[in-house]
Amino acid sequence: MYTDILEAVETGSQSHLDACIVDTVIRSRRAIRAFRPDAVSKDDIVEILDVARTAPSNSNTQPWNVHVLHGRAKLELSEALGQAHVADDCPPLQHLPNPLPEVCRSWQEDFGARYYGALGIDKADVASRARATGRNFDFFGAPVGFIFTIDARLKKYSWLDCGIFLQTLMLAARARGLDTCAQVSFARYQTVIAQKLKLEPGFDVVCGMSLGYADENSVVNKLGLPRATVEQFATFLGFDG
Ligand SMILES: Cc1cc2nc3c(=O)[nH]c(=O)nc-3n(C[C@H](O)[C@H](O)[C@H](O)COP(=O)(O)O)c2cc1C
Repeated sequence: MYTDILEAVETGSQSHLDACIVDTVIRSRRAIRAFRPDAVSKDDIVEILDVARTAPSNSNTQPWNVHVLHGRAKLELSEALGQAHVADDCPPLQHLPNPLPEVCRSWQEDFGARYYGALGIDKADVASRARATGRNFDFFGAPVGFIFTIDARLKKYSWLDCGIFLQTLMLAARARGLDTCAQVSFARYQTVIAQKLKLEPGFDVVCGMSLGYADENSVVNKLGLPRATVEQFATFLGFDG
């Protein structure tokens, strides 16, 4: 696919890809939390993973592994995780430190206000918030779910590689009109997932991900989350002559 364009870029007869197309794919990605039931073909999933495997990694170590779940396999995992979530007997996963650094905390609060606001859930309504979190384990109704794992001996730089792999996958999906939501929520239920997916010992769950077509009518898919401006997070040095 696209071999003529790739060849043109590699041989220099075309100096760059169309930035407009690439930027549009990147900018159009959002975390989707309500999906249409429309099927995604296995061929499309394989093609997306085939693009994602070109992601860079430290010394080309490629630390990512992925279980791709569909149909009964996805349903069975969702049911087991749904039960574990309701039973609430797995220790909470502290995926962010408490307290958060101030800048991160204000963005997190903004996210919480928009997300629970869209769902009509009051900040203090713990039970409704827990039910909303539970939707993660149904992959938000998406027809395909991913569980990403990593050899537990690997360190933070390999987790960084996994993050790059995830974004590459999400962009390859977006380029095909598909949508995703990366989901750290799954990591809390590592033991349930290990048992259900028969994970090899010594592997950690990095996160999950939903894949499918967005339900564009759902308010939860229209959060329009803001970002810091370039001036707020970048420091430029040595550009003044
Ligand atoms: C590593 C990672 C883990 C995430 N985990 C969850 C999750 O468990 N549940 C969820 O609803 N969203 C999750 N998200 C989605 C983020 O909340 C979302 O990317 C962020 O708020 C920015 O919104 P946007 O992706 O729509 O731009 C996760 C995103 C990333 C990158």
